[in-house]
Amino acid sequence: MTAQATIEVKELTSALGAEIRGLDLSAPLSDTDTTAIRQAWLDHQVLVFRDQHLTDAQLTDFSRHFGDLDSVPGWEPFSPAGHPNVLIISNVQKDGATIGVLGDGEASWHTDMSYLDQPPPGSLLYSLEVPETGGDTCFMSMYAALDALPPDLRRAIEGRLLNHDSSHDSAGNLRSNHTAFEDVSTAPGARHPIIRIHPETGRPALFLGRRLHAWVVGETVEASDTLLDQVWEHCTREEFTYRHRWQAGDLLMWDNRCTMHRRDPFDAQARRIMHRTQLKGDAAVEAATLA
Ligand code: OGA
Ligand code: MN
Repeated sequence: MTAQATIEVKELTSALGAEIRGLDLSAPLSDTDTTAIRQAWLDHQVLVFRDQHLTDAQLTDFSRHFGDLDSVPGWEPFSPAGHPNVLIISNVQKDGATIGVLGDGEASWHTDMSYLDQPPPGSLLYSLEVPETGGDTCFMSMYAALDALPPDLRRAIEGRLLNHDSSHDSAGNLRSNHTAFEDVSTAPGARHPIIRIHPETGRPALFLGRRLHAWVVGETVEASDTLLDQVWEHCTREEFTYRHRWQAGDLLMWDNRCTMHRRDPFDAQARRIMHRTQLKGDAAVEAATLA
C-alpha cells in the first residue's frame, strides 16, 4: 500500500510561495512526504513551514532529504559548535563579537552564491528570534520576471553570459581575502547564462545573482550597466514577489535556481537569530542542462 502524503499545500501568492501545513519537521520524514515537499518546492519555489521547534541536528537532518549540504567559504567561524553545515545569520553580539553574519542592514536582492560555478540549488532558513518589526525577507520569481520581460529586452540578453562577482556579500561588504576593484569587467567570480534552464522543471528563468558589480561579458561596462539597469528595473516589481513576515519557529526553503531574495533592515537594538543550511551544487546537473 502506498502511504498518503500528510501535507497540505497552501499557495501564498500567484507568483510564488506556498505554506506547507501538517508536518512536525523535528520528527522523521517519510519518503512520501519528502517527495511531496520536493514537488511543492519545484512548483512554488519558496516553501514556508510555521511553528517548528528544531535543534541544529534536526534542521540538518531535514535539509539532507533534499541533497548534500555545503558551507559558505569564509563563514565557517559562524557555525554553531558541532554543526558545520549550519550558518548563523544574526546581528546579536556576544563577548564583543557578532555571533553570525549579515548584521542588521538591508541585504539587497541576490541569489545565494551565484559566484560559484555550481551554485547551491537551494537554502533553508529557520528563525529562532525575530524583531517585532523589520527584517522581512522578500522573494522574487525569476520565472515570472522572465515571462513578463519585453521581447526586445529578452532578445538583448538571450545567449549572453553574466559575470557574478565573488568579492562582496549580500550586505555589500568586501569579503575577507578579496581586494577591491574599480572596473567590474575585472571582478572575480563565475560566468553563467543570464537566462538559464532550471535543471529539474525545464523552465527558463532569469539568473541575475546581484546587481552590484555584475557585468555582461563582452560588453563595455557602460553598455552592460545600461542593459542590466533595464532588466533589473523590470524585475523588481511587486507582482513577482512574496514578502515573508517572520515569526519565531518559521522555516523557509527556497529554490535558488529560479528565485532571488532580499531582506529589510531592522532596528540594531533588536535581536534576530536565524540558522541556515544550504544545498550543495551538482556539477553533473549543471553541465548536462546548461551546456
Ligand atoms: C540568506 C539570506 C536573509 C535573511 O540566508 O541567504 O539572504 O532574511 N538571509 O536573513
Ligand atoms: Mn541569501
